[in-house]
Amino acid sequence: MKHMTCIADLRELAHRKVPKAFIDYAEAGSYAEQTLRANRADLERITLRQRILHDISRRTTKTTILGEPVSMPLALAPIGLCGMQHGDGEILACRAAHAAGIPFTLSTMSICSIEDVAEAVDKPFWFQLYVMRDRGYIRALIERAAKARCSALVLTVDLQVIGQRHADIKNGMTVPPEIRLKNMLDIATKPAWALSVLRGRRKTFGNITGHYPGMESVTVLSKWIAEQFDPTLSWKDVEWVKSLWPGKLILKGILDVEDARIAAKTGAEAIVVSNHGGRQLDGAPSSISVLPAIAEAVGADIEVMFDGGIRSGQDIARALALGARSCLSGRAYIYGLGAGGQAGVTRAIEIMRSELDTTMALMGVTKVEDINRGVIATIGGR
Ligand code: GLV
Repeated sequence: MKHMTCIADLRELAHRKVPKAFIDYAEAGSYAEQTLRANRADLERITLRQRILHDISRRTTKTTILGEPVSMPLALAPIGLCGMQHGDGEILACRAAHAAGIPFTLSTMSICSIEDVAEAVDKPFWFQLYVMRDRGYIRALIERAAKARCSALVLTVDLQVIGQRHADIKNGMTVPPEIRLKNMLDIATKPAWALSVLRGRRKTFGNITGHYPGMESVTVLSKWIAEQFDPTLSWKDVEWVKSLWPGKLILKGILDVEDARIAAKTGAEAIVVSNHGGRQLDGAPSSISVLPAIAEAVGADIEVMFDGGIRSGQDIARALALGARSCLSGRAYIYGLGAGGQAGVTRAIEIMRSELDTTMALMGVTKVEDINRGVIATIGGR
């Protein structure tokens, strides 16, 4: 993986190795993908100040997230169907994250189950929760996460209905892949992927199949979400989840100052400023454009995390400069996973860590805590 020098290299390789339906699923934004594009475009328009002749010999990317030491201010985001980018993808990504000293978040919509991952790794991971109509199932799911010693629960609050991603419909994306001539021809050109998935522990949603009453197999993800995710979800349910969960709670999917203010009063430990990677409300602002106002409003009361377009250490520096304490990244590590399994995820993390380290040096900063508004030269040319 050494010849992979940036996340774009891993992305290109993943596109060659992973069947179209699954890489399209990971890449997609909703509808016209305006918000997806804005996430990247707005990050790229932030320029950083080059500062010279500071002694930057003793610098470190180490910091803490929710009080826990980490090697850099980054956690791997929850990604549905991670185990369809590479067999046992969730386990491999979790191992890579732990070896690199950062948190891994397992999605409710993962292929490997909570128990599969817990058995295969030796440190606690984070678990992302979607709330479905069957509250008995949700209670049991939270209990399973607690039993597996998950160290934080990441409650997603921006997906009670799913934004349409055109590619998923066009590809007829199902889990496991539907036996269609087009899919089979595609898979035939990706033998390493096919072997890894065949050898993987599971071929469908490990947290759901066999656990959700009356649900023996889940195939079309968007259809299942539309039927089972609970559209009545409200702030009262955050209280309910908090009453069931003994550990740290993170609310993911806050994009508005008013919502951030309410979130800060729930007793949750952190929020993630996020538009779900441009996959939900198309037309919503980029995550980075709303981050400063949210951090300003609640940053003293609750830990502010950020996601939405992070593809480099420079991007992490930009988000920290605008008020985030740490970032989540999903697609960047998914490209690594598709490109090279665990080694690919390790490479993705190392690329971003090394970029952050060099970026800090060139900005004249030696500590993550010193990345603040002062490192910004211009935002959007101003
Ligand atoms: C689910 O979280 C998705 O964005 O597909």
